[in-house]
Amino acid sequence: MADNGRSTGPTSEALISLKGVTKEYQKNGTWIEAVSGCDLDIAENEFLVIVGPTGSGKSTLLKLIAGFEQPDKGEVLLDGEPVKGPGSDRGMIFQEYALLPWRTVLQNVELGLEFQFGKRGKENRELAMTYIDMVGLSYAVNKYPVEMSGGMKRRASLAMILVTKPKILLMDGPFNALDSKTKLTMHTEITRIWEHEHNTIIFVTSELDEAVKLSDRIAVMNSEGRISKIFTNDLARPRFGKAALEPEFHHRFIELREKVMNEVKAGAGKAVCETR
Ligand SMILES: Nc1ncnc2c1ncn2[C@@H]1O[C@H](COP(=O)(O)OP(=O)(O)OP(=O)(O)O)[C@@H](O)[C@H]1O
Ligand SMILES: [Mg+2]
Repeated sequence: MADNGRSTGPTSEALISLKGVTKEYQKNGTWIEAVSGCDLDIAENEFLVIVGPTGSGKSTLLKLIAGFEQPDKGEVLLDGEPVKGPGSDRGMIFQEYALLPWRTVLQNVELGLEFQFGKRGKENRELAMTYIDMVGLSYAVNKYPVEMSGGMKRRASLAMILVTKPKILLMDGPFNALDSKTKLTMHTEITRIWEHEHNTIIFVTSELDEAVKLSDRIAVMNSEGRISKIFTNDLARPRFGKAALEPEFHHRFIELREKVMNEVKAGAGKAVCETR
């Protein structure tokens, strides 16, 4: 649980509930369970990180919560109601950038608002600027995607989703392939935004450092598409800067990372290991 008095974790009333969720796909002529019998409760304002070997169903699980996919068995509940499709209460950030190349940062961020509220001129512009500022891109509002670095494009994509104020942020490996300095900045930014906006975040990553740094809980998926274990992360926040250098913090950080790593390794099937 985070240390700012917010109630998180499975004991709180769930905002999102997965009950026996299974999703099947046909692969090479046979049916596989990409996600298999998953039960998971996610509390409002929780920061849940999902890790697991490649092909363990992490992206599929996010798509089921987003409503892009429907379960074959079980149900995904949002505020107690079955998820029937995508909605503006859930913003999904894909690994790929969603920016339109012929629009500037400002115009891209305004686009999110145009979809939701229509063209509102000044009102949309002011709101867009607030979020561009929040992700630290005010100096680049008039730049086009082609003029921007990977980190800047990630920030712009983040602002584009955040401006529509989704209650739930679904993030699929959003900071993969960023250099370590930009990644560190993005970790600080997303934590600050989450604390400020009180969203619920479900974040997929293959990096365990990232998982331990950001999460309230870490769900580990295995090669059978199941959630094999959920770790509660009660490391104090903030987890950046000076705090992270404290020996006691460092020790507990490493300890949790080891436990998660062992669980991921134990759940990786042979075929999965070979492809890594
Ligand atoms: N649309 C689809 N059609 C067929 N098979 C699919 C489809 N989507 C996913 N799968 C299969 O379902 C399994 C889980 O895929 P998923 O993309 O959810 O895994 P993942 O954990 O996100 O992997 P990665 O870490 O590589 O992103 C894989 O075997 C994948 O090949
Ligand atoms: Mg994936």
